[in-house]
Amino acid sequence: EAFKSHPVHLHHKHADFSSLQELPDSYAWNQPDDHPSDRSIFASKSIPVVDLNDPNALKLIGHACKTWGVFQVTNHGISTELLDDIESAGRSLFSLPLQQKLKAARSPDGVSGYGVARISSFFPKLMWSEGFTIVGSPVDHFRQLWPQDYSKFCDVIEEYEAEVKRLAGRLMWLMLGSLGISRADIKWAGPKGNFKGASAALQLNSYPACPDPDRAMGLAAHTDSTLLTILYQNSTSGLQVLREGTGWVTVPPIHGAFVVNVGDLLHILSNGLYPSVLHRAVVNRTRHRLSIAYLYGPPSSVKISPLPRLVGPGQPPLYRPITWTEYLGTKAKHFNKALSSVRVFS
Ligand code: SIN
Ligand code: FE2
Repeated sequence: EAFKSHPVHLHHKHADFSSLQELPDSYAWNQPDDHPSDRSIFASKSIPVVDLNDPNALKLIGHACKTWGVFQVTNHGISTELLDDIESAGRSLFSLPLQQKLKAARSPDGVSGYGVARISSFFPKLMWSEGFTIVGSPVDHFRQLWPQDYSKFCDVIEEYEAEVKRLAGRLMWLMLGSLGISRADIKWAGPKGNFKGASAALQLNSYPACPDPDRAMGLAAHTDSTLLTILYQNSTSGLQVLREGTGWVTVPPIHGAFVVNVGDLLHILSNGLYPSVLHRAVVNRTRHRLSIAYLYGPPSSVKISPLPRLVGPGQPPLYRPITWTEYLGTKAKHFNKALSSVRVFS
């Protein structure tokens, strides 16, 4: 698996958020640059919402990817029942006592399991969130958490992963199709074009209600190292994306919709035509927020490079070929400059 060989070492303790009546200093992001309170509530120019049944979906998605790097999708074919089920599985997981959750703690050199945000080690302050990462089968971890009824949770997770994987393949062709890319251009999509060998991880995020939300950060600003990410957020807002010239824009929750964002590897594949969007999650004084991110990438052996069709005279390749694992290693070294560190300078 692409994720396995680049563990992020986590130094921070796990907090029992429900016991904290005020924000500990270690959680206060009070430097002007990383202060989350410049939240622009609902910007007048809002993030595109694309109905996948719209005959213009391809064009609308292409435009959204070029200008925003993020959009929401409706009529995506995944039932609200399944979304409700996965949300309640996530709720059950995070509402377990801390001691119980720690039985499934991510090991120091591992990827799957319970823990702080994977990017935590790159920041001096702690984030007001907890997460659970699933790569491959969740059975071993879930057996620890729910010895009696883990199998029903596994079933929900596995059904969700299968459905979202199918949607991810479909979105890949829509996003790339609007750049004139067709199946023949991407051999690693497989003979059926369904990206059968794709790698993926499911990341469940929980943002407890916070006594001092203006000084806290749920998840610090980052781009995703994926091809694309498909995010389900419950009815509590918190996700914000950085829009050039506007600032941080809140992605309003739409019941039953997914947020889809361009990741760094699609940025590379598109030779910079689709920017990977910087985003973060802020927290709320009274409401608990849950989000579920499906992190989607290429098969682990595939080197991603700008598609030949997008390269030519006047359009030199901007990035060198790189596998997902190699990219994660580069990003760990150059966290804020990851894309520029894989640039081709000629
Ligand atoms: C993420 O960036 O992985 C999650 C953001 C969110 O919780 O909305
Ligand atoms: Fe993200």
